[in-house]
Amino acid sequence: MTRLFSGIQPSGELHIGNFLGAIHNWVELQNTYEAIYCVVDLHALSGDFDPAILSERTLTMARHLLACGIDPDKSVLFVQGHVPEHAELMWIFCSVTPIGELERMTQFKDKSARQLSINTGLLIYPVLQAADILLYKGEVVPVGEDQVQHLELTREIARKFNTRFGPTFPEPASRLSTAKRIVGLDGQAKMSKSLGNTIGIIESPESMWDKLRPAFTDPARQRKSDPGEPTRCNIFTLHGYFTPAENQNEIASACRGATIGCFDCKKILHKNMSDRFEPIRQREAELQSKPGYVVDVLEAGASAARSIARQTVGEVREKMGMLPCQTAGGD
Ligand code: TYM
Repeated sequence: MTRLFSGIQPSGELHIGNFLGAIHNWVELQNTYEAIYCVVDLHALSGDFDPAILSERTLTMARHLLACGIDPDKSVLFVQGHVPEHAELMWIFCSVTPIGELERMTQFKDKSARQLSINTGLLIYPVLQAADILLYKGEVVPVGEDQVQHLELTREIARKFNTRFGPTFPEPASRLSTAKRIVGLDGQAKMSKSLGNTIGIIESPESMWDKLRPAFTDPARQRKSDPGEPTRCNIFTLHGYFTPAENQNEIASACRGATIGCFDCKKILHKNMSDRFEPIRQREAELQSKPGYVVDVLEAGASAARSIARQTVGEVREKMGMLPCQTAGGD
């Protein structure tokens, strides 16, 4: 079975961008691949994080993934920081990664432009991501479009390592969903927790509506009587993921003919969206009542991940000519 790897940050919220862009695919692909999924708490350290809530957020993200349908009988689910080999392989990969490649990463440029003091973690973030994937020799990586550049760098790191030290790693391919870039409720930027333009999938229907109601629509529609153009409207794009096709056509012609207002169009989206997530919300509530279960899943996941990770790092150390140590590597 081909091995697949992907990760998500413990941002405190699984939003519809994450869900449509990646997690929906994670759930599907666990049926046909040997899937390994990771909550990347080490990556979170490169941004703004609060030590008082980091572990809670990590658990919450794991719970949300399980509620979405990640099945521990089919996939390995674990926390990145529970497998120290991620950090070790990252350091090793730093030795084959040109700094210029890291400086030209779009996410680094965007994030560093928003910060006064730029920490090193932000720069070497994609090297850690390459280590995540290659530690498990993952060949397929389901992600949203924003991660494609990091995947290109992962392939380059694999190539450089293989050239210098001998064939070791595959060159993993990104797997995009049909919703590879969900735009936020501001109608401008990618949906992202750090931009405050998200809707969380576990939110109550009331809270979803509070966010959808003021969301950006086609700017041509100042009044209900103004004809709109659905292809210019992010709300209509979202209908594409939640509303049956025949209703989408009705909505599009009603928008063009100005017989439906943006408010009513959003009401339909809200109903379909909150119905879609209702079973996930229910499963999440059940999981909240058994926190020990989530911890057990993560412990078992870390143990399975660690045994693969140790093997890879052992092979890498040997290929790089490092002195072996008989007493290292135990629990
Ligand atoms: P993160 O935590 O920002 O996002 C998790 C996944 O959700 C996708 N995504 C989106 N897709 C479509 N539209 C959006 N608006 C949107 N926002 C987020 C992301 O592309 C991602 O697939 N660096 C990664 C985490 C990571 C990782 C890895 C991923 C660490 N190691 C190894 C793959 C393989 C990140 O910050 O994703």
